[in-house]
Amino acid sequence: MSKIIKVIFIFLMLILLFLAYNYFSCFFISGSHADILQTVFSEKILRSDMKYTLPELPYAYSALEPYMDARTVEIHYTKHHQAYVDNLNKALEGHIDLQAKPLLYLLTHPDELPGGIRDAVINNGGGHYAHTFFWTIMSQEKQLPSKKMLDLIIKSFGSFDNFKKEFSDAAKTLFGSGWTWLCVNQKGELVVVKTHGHGIPQVSGGLQPVLVLDVWEHAYYLKYQNRRSEFIEAWWNLINWSQVEQNYYQVFKK
Ligand SMILES: [Fe+2]
Repeated sequence: MSKIIKVIFIFLMLILLFLAYNYFSCFFISGSHADILQTVFSEKILRSDMKYTLPELPYAYSALEPYMDARTVEIHYTKHHQAYVDNLNKALEGHIDLQAKPLLYLLTHPDELPGGIRDAVINNGGGHYAHTFFWTIMSQEKQLPSKKMLDLIIKSFGSFDNFKKEFSDAAKTLFGSGWTWLCVNQKGELVVVKTHGHGIPQVSGGLQPVLVLDVWEHAYYLKYQNRRSEFIEAWWNLINWSQVEQNYYQVFKK
């Protein structure tokens, strides 16, 4: 009888260890960074017949009113983002080997791109990647960061207000067109990064994005004209914190 109890006890302990491993493993960076580079968000870059396609917008054009107007969202998505997708496909025409590779791979291995199409792939592919990311981190429902997310932000920036100021200042001071990102660095810390044009943060220092803001003029000009600061302040009301938190934990998965 005692033998059966021992077996049951060991079995229960094994289950407990398994559950504990699954719970805590997300808090540690595991796997090589090269693996992480290939997986984060790559599944969201939808493809069909070896061609990139515009991903479905997760809300109606008017869903982000009054902070982002319907006309801007429609033009931004159907004209600007669509153009990046079309130009990326055009650049890759006839390059079957490159068409078969994930977009994130192409963007992080520019040396493997022929010189004649390198800029077109980097610029338009980066545009497709960043916009795809951008649409998903906004929501029509007003959200606040969870306690866990807030703790992560406080750990890296001291307070949420410090983070908001650092991010907003980076977006406001970005010269010309570009993107402001919240990323996880190789130490697992959250850091604010800005990129010019359609540069993505993965190409330098192994940074992994969890949140992004488009500060190209086409993202705000119809409603805000030259008042980029006003657009940035309004955008804080649109953040899909639930998605940002998912992005954070995705970085630590193999
Ligand atoms: Fe844009």
